[in-house]
Amino acid sequence: MTRYDEIGVGYARGRRTDPRWLTPVLSALGPAASVLDVGSGTGSYEPPSRHVIAVEPSAEMIRQRRPGAAPVVRAVAEALPFGSSAFDATLAVLTVHHWPDWRRGLAELRRVSRRQVVLAYDTALHNDFWFVREYVPEVASLERSRPSAPEIAEFLGAASVLPLPVPWDFTDGVFPAYWRRPEAYLDPGVRRSCSALAQTDPAAVARGIGRLREDLESGRWHADHAELVELPEWDAGFRLIVA
Ligand SMILES: C[S@@+](CC[C@H](N)C(=O)[O-])C[C@H]1O[C@@H](n2cnc3c(N)ncnc32)[C@H](O)[C@@H]1O
Repeated sequence: MTRYDEIGVGYARGRRTDPRWLTPVLSALGPAASVLDVGSGTGSYEPPSRHVIAVEPSAEMIRQRRPGAAPVVRAVAEALPFGSSAFDATLAVLTVHHWPDWRRGLAELRRVSRRQVVLAYDTALHNDFWFVREYVPEVASLERSRPSAPEIAEFLGAASVLPLPVPWDFTDGVFPAYWRRPEAYLDPGVRRSCSALAQTDPAAVARGIGRLREDLESGRWHADHAELVELPEWDAGFRLIVA
């Protein structure tokens, strides 16, 4: 049983592909005809009209793949069951921070493909998110233990690093997706789709959510964050790394 067999239940419902991230992911793949999607989950950012194979360790995540999705191999990034240079490109979207040995996983991406496209996030910027700073600061130590986008870019010797801001009405329920819709965090279904919350002490999350509920009811959240409500998008630290 993998961690995502537990925390991935309901993933496909809360984490829906957003075209505003799919478009830059597709252009980052360039002319690659064959793509290995590592840590593919439900395959949210798999490119249509290319030869795609997915790698995913969690049976629960594999179960939620759409009918007709790319064929999937049950394996981990750290030991890819493919020969050297077997693919034009590898893709790893919001998964590297879950790999027990992320350097070994990235070395595997490099071994099996000429081009690597990794969507990761800057953990320091994630920790600056109001939800972490003001309500559940316990998330910060988990984030500090995870590899950050600049480290990943450096390890891969990246050719480019593109910031991917989070639109205010983003459909892929990543942890900071609701930065301008704070009421969403009161919904346990929304919180379940965020590994950072699913992996933080439930008592700490419950305390923070209780405070957030009070601040929403009293109007304090809106008074303190009036400037956010004007913004169409916000940089939560997501970076599209191409090597
Ligand atoms: C947040 S999900 C992202 C899924 C998908 N790439 C997406 O963007 O929707 C993280 C995925 O990484 C997978 N994962 C965890 N450890 C892994 C490892 N060592 N190797 C490959 N994938 C792993 C999890 O099972 C999960 O499906």
